[in-house]
Amino acid sequence: MNKGVLDDKVALVTGSSRGIGAGIAKLFAQQGARVVVNGRDAAALAAVQAEIEQAGDKAMSAVADVTRFNEIEEMRRKIERTFGPVDILVANAGGSPTKPGPLEEIGEEEWRYSVDANITATFLTIKSFLPGMKERKTGNIITLSSAAARQPNAMSPIPYAAAKAGIQMMTKILAAQAGPFGVRVNGLAPETILTERNQRMIPDALKPALVERHPIRRLGTPEDVARAALFFASDESAWITGVILDVNGGSMMV
Ligand SMILES: NC(=O)c1ccc[n+]([C@@H]2O[C@H](COP(=O)([O-])OP(=O)(O)OC[C@H]3O[C@@H](n4cnc5c(N)ncnc54)[C@H](OP(=O)(O)O)[C@@H]3O)[C@@H](O)[C@H]2O)c1
Repeated sequence: MNKGVLDDKVALVTGSSRGIGAGIAKLFAQQGARVVVNGRDAAALAAVQAEIEQAGDKAMSAVADVTRFNEIEEMRRKIERTFGPVDILVANAGGSPTKPGPLEEIGEEEWRYSVDANITATFLTIKSFLPGMKERKTGNIITLSSAAARQPNAMSPIPYAAAKAGIQMMTKILAAQAGPFGVRVNGLAPETILTERNQRMIPDALKPALVERHPIRRLGTPEDVARAALFFASDESAWITGVILDVNGGSMMV
């Protein structure tokens, strides 16, 4: 029975035990994909998998730290044994522990953490899955940048913004390299998204002022980002590659 625009596709969403990644995984599954949810927290992954399966859709969990190439490779082999090769890779895992502030106050460890968790994780994940896609002459890769890397802002955490800006360039160069092999590569640049984490971290008193900065007068949700990811993942965007799409309610127009 045909269900959706991702019927018969295998999709891996890294960092999908919560937040934006979980939103993407659930929407892709609703659209007919067999979805692999990934993260380091096995219990959280099991909960997302169960939610997808209870809706009658297909999912499997793969615990792996995507800053470690050997764990990514092990995950890839497990997915290929269970669901088959990955058609759609969403390199979503990332984030920032760094608070905005002057460069000279940023610790070396904080710098390395952000670079590792964002651009290195994205690089290693793609490095593992790209050769199979090129060999099969088909594939779809979606990366996650951030509004923090779209325009300079003194309030952006520098290590995170720099790593996400690097992801944008990697996305575009890769789109140029992989296009002739039938692989499309695009990126998403969300602004503040009301994930579980942001719901906890952003004080309620601050939310109206944040909302005011958006021509579309609300903050984004994981579903908003998931719908943009679905566009890139489906054939609706068949002739689009190397694009960074701002998902930001109009808060920044690049
Ligand atoms: N939320 C926003 O406002 C916003 C805005 C712009 C861009 N983004 C980007 O969107 C992506 C998702 O953000 P989010 O806000 O949804 O994050 P989140 O709620 O903090 O969730 C992060 C997810 O990534 C996973 N993860 C982190 N490091 C990992 C690693 N080394 N290996 C495997 N999984 C890892 C976590 O899983 P475990 O805990 O299970 O390991 C979790 O599922 C990130 O790249 C972030 O930078 C977010």
